[in-house]
Amino acid sequence: MTPRKIIIDTDPGQDDAAAIMLALASPELEVLGITAVAGNVPLALTARNAGIVTEICGRSDVPVFAGASAPLKRKLVTAEHVHGKTGLDGVELFEPARPLETGNAVDFIIETLRNEPERTVTLCALGPLTNIATVFERVPGVVARVKEIVLMGGGFFEGGNITPSAEFNIYVDPEAADIVFRSGAPITMMPLDVTHKVLTTRARVQRLRANGNRPSVAMAGMLEFFERFDEQKYGTDGGPLHDPTVIAWLIDPGMFGGRDCNVRIETGSELTLGATVVDWWKVTGLPENAFVVDSVDSERFFDLFIERVGRL
Ligand code: RIB
Ligand code: CA
Repeated sequence: MTPRKIIIDTDPGQDDAAAIMLALASPELEVLGITAVAGNVPLALTARNAGIVTEICGRSDVPVFAGASAPLKRKLVTAEHVHGKTGLDGVELFEPARPLETGNAVDFIIETLRNEPERTVTLCALGPLTNIATVFERVPGVVARVKEIVLMGGGFFEGGNITPSAEFNIYVDPEAADIVFRSGAPITMMPLDVTHKVLTTRARVQRLRANGNRPSVAMAGMLEFFERFDEQKYGTDGGPLHDPTVIAWLIDPGMFGGRDCNVRIETGSELTLGATVVDWWKVTGLPENAFVVDSVDSERFFDLFIERVGRL
């Protein structure tokens, strides 16, 4: 079977690292490149962290590009309180052997969409949508060449995590999210409603560490750091493992459930800035612009994640 071509746009972030590992370990996917965006931590760190993760996985063949260092119209809001100062606290860090690509992430995404056959490249968005919105604003014609955008972002029944009504990725750059959700590209949305159902319990982290290979041991250390904030906040055993749900969707969509909905982004109100207004009960009659995922078989998800990372 021909592997599905993907670009991972990301702000590592321990959960981004988990998504990158799952993608690199899965023969169903061909990672054409990784594009870094400012989000959890500033761009210099997210770009370096992406290189660290590919090297830990023995996949320095995958190019990493730096993209936007700030949202389209707002000051950058970061999340060191969750991810630590480095963005990858929990694992010993180093300078990646392979330097960043000299080209910009936005140019890489545009060129890839232009050069690959149309509707064969999937964009996996794990951070604020600044890079992808910039691509669509700069070259509107490439939107039609995108196979699918699968993004971690938003929340509806679950509310928000950075404000009562907004999830971090959307909140950081709501204008970018608005451009992406209005673009007409096929979107699959992994909001907090589903990511809060995949918790890194002690037992699961132990199973991961028991793989014994370098990526699994490194990932276990990252998760033990990353989960502490959410365990305290939600009083749960483990924290939500947000970003790998994007990759798991591409490998085994049957583990998820959801529905086509109209989704709009709040960009005006300071009170609810970045809220994803999901018309779950179809009361507006507005066009359905996203498949919104709200359920997952979490055991099946972690079986996949742990088994695949163990292969690296
Ligand atoms: O709200 C969770 C999302 O914000 C995840 O993608 C996490 O990595 C941060 O980017
Ligand atoms: Ca992320």
